[in-house]
Amino acid sequence: MNRMEAIQHRRSVRTFDGAGLRPEEAEQLLAFADTQKNPYGLPIRWKLLNAREHGLSSPVIVGAELYIAGKMRRAPHAEEAFGYSFENVVLFAESLGLGTTWIAGTMNREAFERAMELSEDEVMPCVSPVGRPAKRMSLRETMMRKGVKADSRLAFEELFFDGSFDKPLTKAGAGPLYAVLNAVRLAPSAVNKQPWRCLCRDGWVHFYEKRSKGYVSADGWDLQKVDLGIALCHFELAAVECGLKPSFVLRDPALPKLEPLQYIASWRVESPAPGVGRE
Ligand SMILES: Cc1cc2nc3c(=O)[nH]c(=O)nc-3n(C[C@H](O)[C@H](O)[C@H](O)COP(=O)(O)O)c2cc1C
Repeated sequence: MNRMEAIQHRRSVRTFDGAGLRPEEAEQLLAFADTQKNPYGLPIRWKLLNAREHGLSSPVIVGAELYIAGKMRRAPHAEEAFGYSFENVVLFAESLGLGTTWIAGTMNREAFERAMELSEDEVMPCVSPVGRPAKRMSLRETMMRKGVKADSRLAFEELFFDGSFDKPLTKAGAGPLYAVLNAVRLAPSAVNKQPWRCLCRDGWVHFYEKRSKGYVSADGWDLQKVDLGIALCHFELAAVECGLKPSFVLRDPALPKLEPLQYIASWRVESPAPGVGRE
């Protein structure tokens, strides 16, 4: 399974077969995580945690023996960097046939942070169970998926824009970028809010956050920026697979917006689609 197939195939798995991972799978996953870099150059420390040994649990997860978690120092862009890196690991797990679920809230966080030996200046934004999906979803999992409409995403034209925010990008207008942007569209997000908006212009794809209420904590941590990091990861992996040679740039183009949107980052693509222009 390549990364594009992993993006298309992935869904949150909340019911596992209880058998855990083979030692070589666990090693492979951790080795992959340890060698990954993110565009912000922020290091992340990874651990695979045994649920029973550390007393880890999540009220939405059934049958998981192992969790993967990452921790990092607090820094500007830590949210996006974590989102990017963790999703890379999630998609690698998917390509090994393993199920995962991003979890930021529904867990006994204190036990996880203890197991991660978190220090004062560090954050452990999210964790995920890893294992083989059970043959059938638990009733709770089925209900949860319905509750957040996990199988659907916003329409392409609501997320992507052609030159300016008053012109939605159509499938035809996106040309070769369509597959890449659709990979962004499929990304997972907290409560399936899909806060990313992208403006395609002059061979650039600029990413913005459309913030929902209630996702920024008292210390300024913005969970929806983690979602944006996931979207940036999907863009890069899909663009590379489509031969578009993306390069990462952090420079707000200061373009007019029709609603409050926060600039996040941009990808420059070497062979832009017709309809998304050139400088
Ligand atoms: C940053 C982030 C945090 C999440 N936190 C939770 C969580 O605490 N509990 C949970 O059950 N799902 C959580 N999810 C999973 C989302 O609900 C899920 O990705 C979304 O509904 C889309 O469904 P899918 O992953 O099956 O495509 C989280 C996802 C992301 C990206």
